[in-house]
Amino acid sequence: MSAFLKGIPVVLLVVFGISACQSNEQGTSTDSATTAEMTQLGEQVYRTYCGTCHQADGQGIPGAFPPLAETEWVNGDKGRLIRLVLNGMQGPISVNGSEYNNMMTPHNFLSDEQVAAVLSYVRNNFGNKAEVVRTEEVTKVREATNKEGMWDASELESMTGIPD
Ligand code: HEC
Repeated sequence: MSAFLKGIPVVLLVVFGISACQSNEQGTSTDSATTAEMTQLGEQVYRTYCGTCHQADGQGIPGAFPPLAETEWVNGDKGRLIRLVLNGMQGPISVNGSEYNNMMTPHNFLSDEQVAAVLSYVRNNFGNKAEVVRTEEVTKVREATNKEGMWDASELESMTGIPD
């Protein structure tokens, strides 16, 4: 083997070593690595737990599952959106001019981080552009919510805000 070929593994090690250090530095000094991780987690949670009903493209199924694209429930108040996902909902609602009267089962088995990630994902995909949901916001809402089973759509409508 020539001296040139023997040198290649060393060069690769050095290159990977440097890039590993750089990504580590980014993770501790800024939020960017965390944001990328949350985006990835959000997409994964969406595909596993939401996409079956609301569809991969967030358009839902007319008459059965409402769209998540450009709806007031998705882009509006965060507290209401978190409550909705934790406990689910049932009863008549109007979404973007179409009526639904179906039920969404609770998703309180998801961790606070999973809920924050999936809601941030939903609020920034399918044509949506809204502020991300933070893990501590989910924690606060969960702690303050003392409810078993699904919300009635009518009661959930006014349940806005993140408790202190
Ligand atoms: C079993 C099917 C099902 C699953 C799974 C499901 N949903 Fe729903 N979702 C529904 C139905 C049905 C409604 C409307 C309920 C009603 O008619 O009162 C709804 C309503 C909503 C709404 C309010 C209306 C709108 O379209 O803006 C949001 C937001 C929402 N779901 C988000 C989610 C998210 C995020 C997940 C995954 C964590 C999820 N859903 C999982 C069926 C589902």
